[in-house]
Amino acid sequence: MSSISPAAGATAVGPRPAATATLRVGLVGCGAFARFSMARYRKLPGVTIAAVADIDPAAARRAAGELGAEARSPDGVLVAPDVDLVYIATPPALHFRQARAALEAGRHVLVEKPLATTVADAEALAARAARQGLVCVANLVERYNPLADAVATVIRSRLLGELVHGLFVNEAADEGLAPGHWFWDRDVSGGIFVEHGVHFFDLVAFWLGAGEVVAAARSVRPRAGAAGDGDARTVEEQVMCTCRYAAADGRHTGILFHFEHGFHQPSRMDRQELRLVFERGELRLFDWVPTHGELRAVLDDAAITAVAALLPAAEIRMVERYAGAARQVRGRFRSFEAAALVEISFTTGKDKLGIYGDVVADLAADQVAWIRDPAHRRRLTEAEGVASVALACAADRLALAGR
Ligand SMILES: NC(=O)c1ccc[n+]([C@@H]2O[C@H](COP(=O)([O-])OP(=O)(O)OC[C@H]3O[C@@H](n4cnc5c(N)ncnc54)[C@H](O)[C@@H]3O)[C@@H](O)[C@H]2O)c1
Repeated sequence: MSSISPAAGATAVGPRPAATATLRVGLVGCGAFARFSMARYRKLPGVTIAAVADIDPAAARRAAGELGAEARSPDGVLVAPDVDLVYIATPPALHFRQARAALEAGRHVLVEKPLATTVADAEALAARAARQGLVCVANLVERYNPLADAVATVIRSRLLGELVHGLFVNEAADEGLAPGHWFWDRDVSGGIFVEHGVHFFDLVAFWLGAGEVVAAARSVRPRAGAAGDGDARTVEEQVMCTCRYAAADGRHTGILFHFEHGFHQPSRMDRQELRLVFERGELRLFDWVPTHGELRAVLDDAAITAVAALLPAAEIRMVERYAGAARQVRGRFRSFEAAALVEISFTTGKDKLGIYGDVVADLAADQVAWIRDPAHRRRLTEAEGVASVALACAADRLALAGR
């Protein structure tokens, strides 16, 4: 069924189904997110779900029934000869061992984020995948959002001037995370920066390149009903860090970007805002996988038309128009002309689950395309999995040192 062809830049050759053959996926970890992802993977052209596994046999049986696949043992699926790609959706601390086992067996791997919970483990997986010509990417879906591309284009266009700083505020719900959930156990999750922050480190790296952590902090709260001492009595509920990215114009010491993730809200209050502040205004994205956004800026008429053309389903609202001397605007010791203060709303036209499903499917389809044809250029590679873990671990270290 499979034919063998070389991967670009690889020192060994991974198994690649022929362009016409079906790519067989094996799932390890049949929890909440796997069920969401697999509902999308099974609809990808040329992809079939061959086998599923979970340490909890009831979870495996349920997924097998939903997906029309065979339930097997986790170790069986990781090395199964009739599986081309293993999708690992277990808690983070298991990712390294399970992904390594699948790679050793010559399987391609799509692993839930984070790629691993330490930089050394993430690097080891990426190096092994490269040596064997295999995929081993983390499911960092944010850069597959059409709004990620739109924002990248706005930054590059400089229609709003230079990017000055950024902010991501994630006031997340913890209503579904009971005190005993693995999410609160740092030995299993790696902590909030590693388990969760990687998504947004990767999104900002997509726009601004590599960053460095310059400040970090965290806060804990009592763990409900906890016995024991020290860390066992508390859970990490909030982390914050500031990273510095190289400025495009080289005129100042770098773009500071602040990331904040807190898990303390009722589900109905779950909310996220990503804000990019430019010389002439700001652009905001809303939702955890951004669905829509707003831009507010002082611009000339040509720039208003040009920036609106870069944003999907843009709706322009003139807040005030300027004439004569009022057209002169100053900021950062510079003068420029503005015809209006404008607000532009834009949207993907989808709700959160709609866009989430799309990015999950698009990431998998991108990796499958590379498995079939190594000349295909992937939007996300193993390197981004490593870079996001590296930034997360650096932030975590600094936050722990300061507590
Ligand atoms: N990419 C995303 O947007 C996104 C969103 C949510 C969660 N996730 C990630 O998905 C992963 C799973 O999260 P979840 O919310 O689905 O958790 P979950 O607890 O609902 O599911 C985990 C599953 O793994 C199973 N499991 C545990 N140990 C196992 C083992 N040794 N072998 C096989 N199965 C085992 C559990 O029984 C459970 O069914 C995490 O890494 C999480 O960070 C990613």
